[in-house]
Amino acid sequence: MPPPRFSEQLELAAVLTAVGCSRMFVETTLVKWGATPVIDDALLVVSELVTNSVKATGVTTPDPNWAQLGKLNLIGVRLLGLERSIVIEVWDIDPRTPVVQDADFDAESGRGLFLVETVASRWGSRPAEPGKVVWAELPIQPSPGESFHE
Ligand SMILES: Nc1ncnc2c1ncn2[C@@H]1O[C@H](COP(=O)(O)OP(=O)(O)OP(=O)(O)O)[C@@H](O)[C@H]1O
Ligand SMILES: [Mg+2]
Repeated sequence: MPPPRFSEQLELAAVLTAVGCSRMFVETTLVKWGATPVIDDALLVVSELVTNSVKATGVTTPDPNWAQLGKLNLIGVRLLGLERSIVIEVWDIDPRTPVVQDADFDAESGRGLFLVETVASRWGSRPAEPGKVVWAELPIQPSPGESFHE
């Protein structure tokens, strides 16, 4: 992967509101970079990856009590702007590698990574110290006259 041209990151507590915050962060950053054609797919990817990280390491009850909030794990979201793509990275403290479930459209869960795989040109995970990073790359085709910038 070439060195990123742009990079922005956000750290969040591992609660469900992290999903909406990550979406706002991704949209604002991609608008700033002029990467608007990829926003819809990027929002889908960040929603799925952050939801997975909260499920794996955080509190998923809608109304967490103070005791739960006192010992929350962190989640990291990083956006990289490359020459012709963006990469969305989500870090969490769980070392387990995510596994795509067999596609079963009747199932009520197990579709998140399948969707990420559908929209991303590449995706994967790598160990981090501690935990791991799950990432997905989305190609950028700037509209005529529009450039990808900071
Ligand atoms: N960040 C993660 N840490 C640890 N395990 C993960 C992580 N993300 C995904 N997984 C594992 O991979 C499985 C598949 O994830 P996927 O997002 O496809 O489905 P799901 O989260 O179970 O359901 P859905 O996304 O449809 O609500 C999960 O059930 C979980 O076991
Ligand atoms: Mg999921």
